[in-house]
Amino acid sequence: MVPEDPWHFVCSRDRLVDPGSRAFVLSQADRELSGFLVGHGGEVRAFRNRCPHTGVALNWGGDRFLDVDEAYIQCSMHGALFRPEDGRCIHGPCVGRALQALPVRIRNGDIEVAWPQAEDAS
Ligand code: FES
Repeated sequence: MVPEDPWHFVCSRDRLVDPGSRAFVLSQADRELSGFLVGHGGEVRAFRNRCPHTGVALNWGGDRFLDVDEAYIQCSMHGALFRPEDGRCIHGPCVGRALQALPVRIRNGDIEVAWPQAEDAS
């Protein structure tokens, strides 16, 4: 049996603006994981779409995850701010906690994301 490739295509690199964000869902067998990409400072990062405060989805709708200045990721529920470089919360009710980062790579101009190693993708 051939093992399933852990990497999943999300979008081409030129479809993610900087600064900008984009939602995605990974599907594998009978499980799904909701996440988002962040393009910021020339880097691309991926996080699970779940706020460490209450577990809700972060986005303001669609692909919108950043604050009005596009400097931080901002939770739409209570306004917590997270650094785009590492997902650490620097303002709001979950200061010091962090978003779950997902493995991300750019290959042949495509952004690919993998399931986290120790995931509980519920
Ligand atoms: S649910 Fe995200 S800050 Fe409260």
